[in-house]
Amino acid sequence: MKISIASDHAGFCQKQPLAAYLRERGHDVIDRGPATDERVDYPDFAELVARDVADGMAERGVLVCGTGIGMAVAANKVDGIRAANVVTPEFAALAREHNDANIVTVSARFVDEAVNRAILDAFLSTDFGGGRHADRVAKIAALESK
Ligand code: RB5
Repeated sequence: MKISIASDHAGFCQKQPLAAYLRERGHDVIDRGPATDERVDYPDFAELVARDVADGMAERGVLVCGTGIGMAVAANKVDGIRAANVVTPEFAALAREHNDANIVTVSARFVDEAVNRAILDAFLSTDFGGGRHADRVAKIAALESK
């Protein structure tokens, strides 16, 4: 799967190994930076990944910051993005199954890398449930034009 990934300075320490993990798993990874842990603003990097996903350059996105919260809030401002801030693999699966999340945002400061690897596994391997969930996701999309 083609996956776009980025972080801010707080997420950089996990972005690097998580990108390597995704490559090991056979994914085609676009790393949108940053290249160092120098201080940056997370919305700038959330936008790069969100646009990759919204424009079809990547099927899914992964964003890492201190909590994952700011990345999710920023990414969700881009039309077509459903970014979920996830702290357990179970929530990652539900974000896919119920919400058809196309970006997962994770915390480098509060969640271990091993747990974040399991979160990525669940996020990338769980299909959207469709049915009643599809009707609700369509209503989310409709909010963009209101
Ligand atoms: C950076 O200090 C921190 O605010 C950021 O990484 C993130 O946690 C924001 O939601």
